[in-house]
Amino acid sequence: MAVSVQEATAVDDDLVDAFTRLIPQLSRSNPPPSKDELDELVRSEASHLLVARDDNGGIVGSLTLVVFRIPTAVRAWIEDVVVDESARGQGVGEALNREALRLAGAHGARTVDLTSRPSREAANRLYQRIGFEPRETNVYRFEL
Ligand SMILES: CC(C)(COP(=O)(O)OP(=O)(O)OC[C@H]1O[C@@H](n2cnc3c(N)ncnc32)[C@H](O)[C@@H]1OP(=O)(O)O)[C@@H](O)C(=O)NCCC(=O)NCCS
Repeated sequence: MAVSVQEATAVDDDLVDAFTRLIPQLSRSNPPPSKDELDELVRSEASHLLVARDDNGGIVGSLTLVVFRIPTAVRAWIEDVVVDESARGQGVGEALNREALRLAGAHGARTVDLTSRPSREAANRLYQRIGFEPRETNVYRFEL
């Protein structure tokens, strides 16, 4: 399958429907974004919503890259990586990540971070194959 990855710059029904299909394949506890929420994401300067399409233009995956300046550097995070079950194992996840890394570099980021639960075996293999290295740190979350 030939896959193309592009940054979403506008929100249409196709994009909303794609997230309604994709988000349950990523998270059972978070609902898919509404059209307004996708609009906010696409308008945000810091966030880059990447969308992978197959030969027919159908949306088969997505990744969000966030680039931000902090006192020590410009840094980036990758979040919400998901590929439709029907398109997995064909390099879509790799293509999304490679485009995110290119974009992060183009925006001057020095590092790109992400987290992935150990139970996500395909994801952890993919990240390490691309060149992400495990980092010794504690990951904390404060629920608001
Ligand atoms: C992780 C994920 C994005 C990878 O997407 P992908 O398009 O399958 O990625 P790739 O094809 O580039 O590589 C994935 C790896 O998993 C293997 N794989 C995953 N699903 C597969 C399937 N259904 N059939 C065959 N191989 C599969 C691939 O062969 C490849 O293995 P390798 O790294 O040993 O070569 C996708 O499995 C997914 O959406 N999972 C559910 C959500 C998730 O875990 N997201 C990551 C959050 S951190």
